[in-house]
Amino acid sequence: MSQTKTVVAINGDGIGREIVTAARRVVDAAVTKDNIKIEWIEKKAGGEAIDAYGEPLPADTIKACETADAVLLGAVGGPQWDDVAPSIRPEKAILGLRKALGLFCNLRPVRIFKALQDYSPLKPELVQNVDFVIVRELTGGIYFGEREEAEGEGPNELAWDKETYHRYEVERIMDVAIETAAKRRGKITSVDKANVLASSRLWRKIAQEKAAANLDIDMDYLYVDNTAMQLVVNPGQFDVIVTTNLFGDILSDEGAVVSGSLGLLPSASIGTGTALYEPIHGSAPDIAGRGIANPLGTILSAAMMCRYSLNAPKAADAIEAAVEKALEGGYRTGDIYKDGMQRVDTNGMTAAVLQYI
Ligand code: IPM
Ligand code: MN
Repeated sequence: MSQTKTVVAINGDGIGREIVTAARRVVDAAVTKDNIKIEWIEKKAGGEAIDAYGEPLPADTIKACETADAVLLGAVGGPQWDDVAPSIRPEKAILGLRKALGLFCNLRPVRIFKALQDYSPLKPELVQNVDFVIVRELTGGIYFGEREEAEGEGPNELAWDKETYHRYEVERIMDVAIETAAKRRGKITSVDKANVLASSRLWRKIAQEKAAANLDIDMDYLYVDNTAMQLVVNPGQFDVIVTTNLFGDILSDEGAVVSGSLGLLPSASIGTGTALYEPIHGSAPDIAGRGIANPLGTILSAAMMCRYSLNAPKAADAIEAAVEKALEGGYRTGDIYKDGMQRVDTNGMTAAVLQYI
């Protein structure tokens, strides 16, 4: 008898439906290896939910996520919703889900796929050994602090956002970073702006306490500006980067582009409730609905889901190996196409992966 796991599938906007559909096919095929069956529950969030219900994150979606084994999300947002009120922007769906599910930690692994080594904008010798994880704090800091939208007039018109961190928020993200590093090369770079920000000084103090209590971990402390530079000068030096919500948002886009394959990078958001998996790229409204999007970031996010939330390690390994083989086989969607390769659309890439599962 196979075991059934429930996964909430949120397509979201733009290319979301195409890439989530692709990932679902791959997951369904792979989890049989672990004797698991998936019950998919489709729910709306983001622009799609604004159009359907007038709000980006319906209570019904949150409720389904709370009781599921995992959530798989495509992407949200698009120009259609650029002018909606700040309180119902599509992005609120992601932020609201992170908060509602207690997802205080975002794991973003950045690595170079052998077949795509020459895709990085950096010199090949700089990126050969790139393999790091960004551990981004996800439910605190300036993203969730108090704020005031612009008020007043003339030169005194004023808007503000507040950055705060409690000790418990820093401690728990450090613990995840330490656990992650222990399974890797044992090195952590804690990133802050402690030369200027009080919240960063607390961050660094706690990082130092954690380092003192975990002597098997080698902890470094870098300012965020220096980190941004080091990521392009010598990205191979990093193993685990742990940082705040805002700094992590910025550095993870930079990390992604260093790898040369933004469309391939997965992410997992974990914490106290149901974990959520999504590619790190956006909804790509310019190519939405044409069936040409690169589904690999979502497929690799689904592999992380199999490993961390569905107790399906064989499926996770099989999906990651199949993606590697599809790339080595020369299959390329438009975003990573080069002369001499086999150009495929979303379905073609999905089929290429499926044949190796
Ligand atoms: C990300 C995204 C989100 C963020 C947006 C869509 C709210 O950029 O997951 O990195 O800023 O966290
Ligand atoms: Mn981002």
